[in-house]
Amino acid sequence: MRVLGIETSCDETAAAVVEDGHRVLSSVVRSQDALHAPWGGVVPEVAGRAHVESLGAVVEEAQGRAGAGPEAVAVTSGPGLVGSLLVGVAWARAHAWALGLPLAAVDHLESHCYAARMDHPDLAYPYLALLVSGGHTAVYLCEAPGRQRALGRTRDDAAGEAFDKVASMLGLGYPGGPAVERAARGGDPAAVAFPRPLPAGGPHGLDFSFSGLKTAVLYAVRGQDARGTAASSGLPVADLAASFQEAVVDCLVARALEAARRTGVRRLALGGGVGANGRLRSRLVEAGGEAGLDVRLPGAALCTDNAAMVAGLGYHLLAAGRVAPADLAVRPRG
Ligand code: KG4
Ligand code: ZN
Repeated sequence: MRVLGIETSCDETAAAVVEDGHRVLSSVVRSQDALHAPWGGVVPEVAGRAHVESLGAVVEEAQGRAGAGPEAVAVTSGPGLVGSLLVGVAWARAHAWALGLPLAAVDHLESHCYAARMDHPDLAYPYLALLVSGGHTAVYLCEAPGRQRALGRTRDDAAGEAFDKVASMLGLGYPGGPAVERAARGGDPAAVAFPRPLPAGGPHGLDFSFSGLKTAVLYAVRGQDARGTAASSGLPVADLAASFQEAVVDCLVARALEAARRTGVRRLALGGGVGANGRLRSRLVEAGGEAGLDVRLPGAALCTDNAAMVAGLGYHLLAAGRVAPADLAVRPRG
């Protein structure tokens, strides 16, 4: 079954056609980075309007490249920016209705957790998913399509948000994640001993926290220690970037391994934009391998927002009989 996927939850306008949940016939992502860069972050009004302007052409391109028409439509219905979600959901509803096709409502976070199964269809449930994006950072237990629960999540900033803010402190531009990763090459990850906060509380004791780390970077950039007194200023940007990245990666890897130890689940997937980070990918594979885990990484293009993962998960939801109503509403909070 060929499913047309639509993704407009934040600042990428994306459409894809995927066969049987994993064979990508086409995947088109139109980034809005250039529109938001002057503000150093996503401006919701601008994002919604840009989706309206681009979505028709993006879908046409995806359908044209796929070569055959879709047999179903899947769309991200939340969480995300309400104005952005509305554009995709309205479009998908109308398209499905006009062509008489079934419609699937996909949760954006679950689609990130599903992305690894696009490249590794043999990844069986249950599996753990470390989801690290610009808006969310969490570790999930994925039990079946449409069924997963968070074992731990960030109490403050998402890891991607911390990358973006640190990039701005270091004058590296937007979006920050890839810029910090580039700057970190050649830097010494041990140059600054940044904190690695791992909150002990939370329902499962597996929560994350990145705001303290972000503040520590700010002090280091200003050449102050945590009490605000003058200290070691003039650190190279490469060393600051590498030390920050290492601290984030340490926290993420530690939590994922701890989740595996506590649940006894040996399969671990990675997802979300920060999942494109090379240092995170290699450390997760290395540490996971040492702990005897089966670690599955999606390709970098499947980590950042895309519609292929939406179409892929949508296929399984429809196969399980989960057809969305014709008046499907958006769920900005998930
Ligand atoms: O999943 P995503 O595309 O959108 C959300 O749903 O949030 O994630 C975007 C986030 C941004 O914060 C971006 O800076 C970060 O992912 N990111 C990276 C890398 N590529 C994207 N962070 C670290 N290293 C990267 N290579
Ligand atoms: Zn996302």
